[in-house]
Amino acid sequence: MTVYLNHQFLPKSEARISPDDRGFLFGDGVYEVVRFYHGRFFEAAAHWQRFDRSLAELRMSRPAALDYEKVCHELIVRNGMETKDGYVYLQITRGAAPRNHSYAGDLEATVYGYATELPRNVEKLKQGFRVVFHPDLRWARCDIKSVALLANVLAAQHAREQGAEEAILLRGEQVTEASRSNVAIVKDGVVRTHPLTEGILNGITRQVVVKLCTQLGIPLQEESFTRAEMLAADEVFLMGTTVEVMPVVEVEGQKVAQGQAGPVTRRLQTAFEECVNVCRQRA
Ligand code: PDD
Repeated sequence: MTVYLNHQFLPKSEARISPDDRGFLFGDGVYEVVRFYHGRFFEAAAHWQRFDRSLAELRMSRPAALDYEKVCHELIVRNGMETKDGYVYLQITRGAAPRNHSYAGDLEATVYGYATELPRNVEKLKQGFRVVFHPDLRWARCDIKSVALLANVLAAQHAREQGAEEAILLRGEQVTEASRSNVAIVKDGVVRTHPLTEGILNGITRQVVVKLCTQLGIPLQEESFTRAEMLAADEVFLMGTTVEVMPVVEVEGQKVAQGQAGPVTRRLQTAFEECVNVCRQRA
């Protein structure tokens, strides 16, 4: 496997990062994940825009001469994935320096990238996910795509141990999002999802779904909802780069939409798949 580290493509076994790296010591860094279908990036521009924004919120700027798309494309080519489906992770940390919470302004960022093949999980997209609730233990800036994911890790692990695929995060009684995806409910034909605040990640898949709702004439409310409203919803679905538009069929062991993808979710899934197909066939 060929990875990218600090201006260089090299075998993963040769990649070395300093133990003084602030990503390792403090979680002082940000990342992006972009999906590719048949070697073509899905919504790449939106991901790069969010990456620059996350960096700016950390008072960092994009390392000079780093062309996100060029690096990601090269990773696909060097790993023979030009006709495959998968995703690329790019991680940028503030760099290495002797341990101190504060930093001098002139550190050289660490940039690490790798590509992974991931065929679309067609079966799971039909069957749907089971989810459980978990307290949202994260900090107050969840809009920054930070590599500091401990609260997400604890929530995801809780889900796994309960035999569920995703954890729904609760701030008090309010649902924010999930451990690695955004979440929406459908009630009486209306889609409802948490508004864009500092309490959730501005998901690129969520952005696509918002546009699709407008195109399809599906009413959408960007308003938060409670755990009780989620349990009483007609449909629930997740949105994310890796999960796409994923029906939720069970919440805390209780069936949603008779344990199947509901009609609104299916419409959005079909429309999303159309976007994927357009991406796949791009020159
Ligand atoms: N996760 N919310 C959280 C907390 C996320 O981590 C993610 C993405 C999303 C969905 O965002 P997008 O549609 O832009 O992927 C929402 C990625 C896939 C990850 O961490 O692996």
